[in-house]
Amino acid sequence: MKTAVYPGSFDPVTNGHLDIISRASRIIDKLYVAVLDNPSKTPLFTAEERVQQLKQILKDYDNVEVMSFSGLLVDFARSVNSNIIVRGLRGVTDFSYEFQMALSNRSLDSDIETLFISADTQYLFFSSSQVKEIAYFNGNIDNMVPDLIKEQLQKKMKKY
Ligand code: COA
Repeated sequence: MKTAVYPGSFDPVTNGHLDIISRASRIIDKLYVAVLDNPSKTPLFTAEERVQQLKQILKDYDNVEVMSFSGLLVDFARSVNSNIIVRGLRGVTDFSYEFQMALSNRSLDSDIETLFISADTQYLFFSSSQVKEIAYFNGNIDNMVPDLIKEQLQKKMKKY
């Protein structure tokens, strides 16, 4: 059985991430969506909130499991018996960062392979930070995130 890990901060998850998850889930038998819980960063949504959001959004995917992780990604991959890391590529700027990360992960564990999936053209132009900024200024994020994220962003923004 081919298992893979799709890691990220997902603060918040966007339709771009969901496109990669959906396509990866069709070529991989079991996909672990791994939410980074990084104590040195201050995300808008806590790791627990991000895990719950993803679980809710991905509830109809039978072969996708959402978990959080801290520490090294290769250690998480090993803990779920997977040696494939899935990453999305939106263009050349992503490539240099992603290529470096793939090489670092392979130097940490030579069994690890990184599988790149090219993002769909409609998701090339935005990121989680941009979604948060647009939501903060009450801009339209309808095509960028699922409704659940839109609602939770609106609630969070009211507190600021
Ligand atoms: N569509 C839209 N946006 C996308 C996207 C897609 N398909 N893929 C990535 N993005 C955006 C995200 O929205 C995010 O935007 P932001 O910077 O504005 O917030 C950005 O690209 C990167 O996000 P993400 O894909 O969530 O990755 P990340 O860089 O936050 O996470 C980890 C990277 C978790 C994989 C990496 O930090 C990690 O492995 N950490 C563990 C520690 C470790 O093992 N280190 C050694 C390895 S180098």
